[in-house]
Amino acid sequence: MNFFTLIFLALTAVVANSAKIPIRAQYPSTSGLKFTIDGNATYFAGTNSYWISFLTNDADVDLVMSHLNTANLKVLRVWGFNDINKATSEVWYQSLIPGQQPKINTGANGLQRLDAVVRAAEKHGIKLIIPFVNNWSDYGGIPAYNTYFNTTSTTWFTNTAAQAQYRKYIKAVVSRYKTSEAIFAWELGNEPRCQGCVTSVITNWAKGVSAYIKSLDSRHMVTLGDEGWLNGGGDGTYPYTTWEGVDFEAVLKLPNIDFGTFHLYPISWGITTDHAAWGKAWFANHGDICAKVGKPCLAEEFGATTNKTGILPIWQRQALDHPAIGGDMYWQYGDKLSYGNTHDDGYTIYYGSDVFKTLMLGHAADIQSAGSN
Ligand SMILES: *[C@@H]1O[C@H](CO)[C@@H](O)[C@H](O)[C@H]1NC(C)=O
Ligand SMILES: *[C@@H]1O[C@H](CO)[C@@H](O)[C@H](O)[C@H]1NC(C)=O
Ligand SMILES: *[C@@H]1O[C@H](CO)[C@@H](O)[C@H](O)[C@H]1NC(C)=O
Ligand SMILES: *[C@@H]1O[C@H](CO)[C@@H](O)[C@H](O)[C@H]1NC(C)=O
Repeated sequence: MNFFTLIFLALTAVVANSAKIPIRAQYPSTSGLKFTIDGNATYFAGTNSYWISFLTNDADVDLVMSHLNTANLKVLRVWGFNDINKATSEVWYQSLIPGQQPKINTGANGLQRLDAVVRAAEKHGIKLIIPFVNNWSDYGGIPAYNTYFNTTSTTWFTNTAAQAQYRKYIKAVVSRYKTSEAIFAWELGNEPRCQGCVTSVITNWAKGVSAYIKSLDSRHMVTLGDEGWLNGGGDGTYPYTTWEGVDFEAVLKLPNIDFGTFHLYPISWGITTDHAAWGKAWFANHGDICAKVGKPCLAEEFGATTNKTGILPIWQRQALDHPAIGGDMYWQYGDKLSYGNTHDDGYTIYYGSDVFKTLMLGHAADIQSAGSN
């Protein structure tokens, strides 16, 4: 082989390789008080589907993602946990069976179901928010850890063994998708609460875990997934107190928390005044704190069981109008799949229904006319 052949081969290799180099990956990020998705810094609408992670039919998962794309719902929040205390033949992600070693299920009825969700999201351009644990007992959650580690809903946050297992689980999930552009953000948990605790318990926990996640994956955003309990202000009702052990603003200020989340359920929170107006103020009060801290807010879960078309547009509009709220995601998305309709918990808005059309088309038009807001 002579010198010129060598040069020729080297050049061919360079050309061949550069043809394979994809355009630089674009991970969702914050940009000021908004979010950037696929290079577009704009307000977005999204929704929640806890059940999609446990479907066993790939075609169903794919159908949901294609519908979300059609409806321009850009971000979907899905359960990234499914903890069990007893053996089951159904889908499970982590077993915490007393007397046995904890086990993370990477098999076909385990995290491979979450793989299918991520794959379908990638295919249809949908971004995902993935929480790692539930405060509630649905799909295991902190109560499942408590059964195994003899912890409680308050000691769990500081128990060394329980926290070590929770981090193992986080690592298992994050490692699978750390280079996926379909991940919008990692979330510490769904609605973490520590009733009766000083707020430093949750704030310190969030500080440690968010730093841990960033050490595994610095590309993706991290958030808490809390309901947004405020330390004072508003009308002084229960959501404006630290009764649940969470101080929204203190958590938002943490260096590895990229944005703030809040939820809104006036009925479950015992609010007796006009829900539309109360919720509008709840949105605005969070937006104001986000503006002050300099990170965007996400209205991550909100819904109504009655008068959806009367109430939800008022909240969607307030979210869109507030300069520090970057997106809104109603609870919860519904669809008709191979086995029939997905779970209707009263809040569900089914794809293609009249309520869906009224709420989503109207909101999409508002977002469009607000431009990059
Ligand atoms: C960016 O988002 C805005 C608002 O949703 C939309 O109108 C626009 O088409 C998007 N641009 C790109 C390049 O996706
Ligand atoms: C929890 O308590 C049970 C019963 O006392 C004990 O057998 C088990 O070892 C404890 N588990 C842990 C993780 O401390
Ligand atoms: C969720 O958190 C609250 C506050 O700590 C607690 O009272 C409640 O029991 C938790 N839920 C479950 C199912 O443990
Ligand atoms: C629905 O909500 C709107 C906005 O708050 C309100 O004006 C209207 O009276 C409500 N309708 C019913 C039937 O409650």
